[in-house]
Parts: sequence; structure tokens; C-alpha cells
Amino acid sequence: MIEELVAASDVSLGESGADLRQAAIWPGVWALLSTCGVPRPLIVDAGGGSGGFAVPIAAAGYPVIVVDPSPDALAALRLRAAERGLDHQITAVQGDLGDLGDLVGVGRADVLLCHSVLDVVDDPATALAQALRVLRPGGTLSLLVAGQGAAVLRRVLAGRIDEAFAVFTGELGRAPRPSRRFSVADAVALVRRAGGEVTDVHGARIFTDLVPGERLSDPRVVESLRRLELAAARHESYRDLAAHLHVLARRPARQPHIDDHE
Ligand SMILES: C[S@@+](CC[C@H](N)C(=O)[O-])C[C@H]1O[C@@H](n2cnc3c(N)ncnc32)[C@H](O)[C@@H]1O
Repeated sequence: MIEELVAASDVSLGESGADLRQAAIWPGVWALLSTCGVPRPLIVDAGGGSGGFAVPIAAAGYPVIVVDPSPDALAALRLRAAERGLDHQITAVQGDLGDLGDLVGVGRADVLLCHSVLDVVDDPATALAQALRVLRPGGTLSLLVAGQGAAVLRRVLAGRIDEAFAVFTGELGRAPRPSRRFSVADAVALVRRAGGEVTDVHGARIFTDLVPGERLSDPRVVESLRRLELAAARHESYRDLAAHLHVLARRPARQPHIDDHE
């Protein structure tokens, strides 16, 4: 099992191969893509930025539509895609989560990625509910949000105890610009409220941020850390301390409150 996870975590198609920070996220993403049951799935990366996920997915042969409000991020994405000869696989569109229905079409996407976007929007619940409408019934969601436990722990380790307490109570990170962190329960509740059925939750970057930077220049340390991250990702006691929580979900086959408005 761990060998399969290690293989799936290695994005060896020219992008972030050694990136430990994403290692525990890729197995879940590949699983969604390979099980969606259509030969050419419509994949939408909402808030996909400069293509940290979209580019490796496109390199693996899947067409991806990236929707992002930032012209700079989209320009960087187009450049990266062109450099790798992937222009035909990636469509970059300016817009935000609320525009997805108009830009892509309600109920059209097979897989929706929404990675590290709800951390920065004003109203994550509304934004996710709007975004989920783009999924076809049975379509799947890969949601990545910042974990609260890691943000508290990092501040404690740095001796910033008052700040840690403020993150713990949720006071820190709301103003002036939201930078939210979520507990596992928050993230699951958010998806359920938006109408998604949660199928898996795991943690990413549980230990990597705690390792002194100079140790990461040793490839053996990196490989051991990758295995540790992957092995611990689904353990509840460790998952709660992850810098990122990765929620996989499905849009149920029929949802009257959504379907009736399509
Ligand atoms: C931290 S980056 C994450 C980029 C990419 N998803 C990844 O994980 O590598 C957050 C991205 O969300 C985008 N963003 C911010 N507000 C948004 C919104 N309301 N709707 C869609 N994207 C948004 C930003 O422009 C930025 O590209």
C-alpha cells in the first residue's frame, strides 16, 4: 500500500517531483481522475493559479480548465503550459468561484479541484456551494484547505503563544484579509453544507514543515519524510495537525435543491 502511495505521490512528469509539500495530495487527485469513468473527463481547477496542479494533470494527458481571478497567475500559467507544450491541454479563464456556472456550465464538470482557495475568500460556505454547481451529478471534488492545528503548533514552536491562542480561537486570520484555517470537522461540515458527500479526508504536510530546512538537502531524509507523510496522512491523530487538509467528495447523483434550478 505504501509503495503505491509513494509512486502516486511522485509527480515525475516534469513538475514538482521532489515537492514534499504536495506529496500526500497527489494520490487522492490521481484516484479521482482515474476513477471518474469517462475517457476524457472535464476537469476544472477553480482558483488554479499558475498551475501547480493543472500543469502536471495536463501533462498526464487530461484537459484542464483553470478559472482564476488573477491575470498575473493566468499569465504565469499560460507561460508554464507553453514551455511544456501543453497549451492545447489547458484553458485559462479569468473568473472566480461564483462565475464557474456561467464560465463552464452548471453540472458539466467531472472533477473539480478547489485547492487553497477557500482559505482566502470572504464567505467559504457560499463560495463552495456556488463552485459545486459546476459538477455533474456523481462528479467529484478535491478540496484543499489550510489546517488550523498546524497553524497553532507552528506558532507555539516559535514561542508566539498569544498568537497561537488567537489562531486556536479563530480570532487571528479574519482581518484585514481572510486567511482561514479549518479543523477536520469544519472542512467536512463545509462540504456537506454545500451539498457534497465526503468520501475521504487526509492530511498533507504533517511533518515536513517541522523539519529544519538544512536536513531537506539530504535525499534520504526527503524520501523517508515522504513515506512518513504518506503513511500518517489518513491517521486521525496526525491528520489534525496537517498544514493542509485534503477532502475528497462527490456530488450526489441527484440533489433537488440544485438540480431543480439547472
Ligand atoms: C494560494 S493560491 C492556490 C493556487 C492553486 N490552487 C494551488 O493550489 O497551487 C490561491 C488562488 O486562489 C485564487 N483566488 C482568490 N480568490 C478567488 C476566488 N474568489 N475565486 C477563485 N479563485 C480565487 C488566487 O488568485 C490564487 O491564484
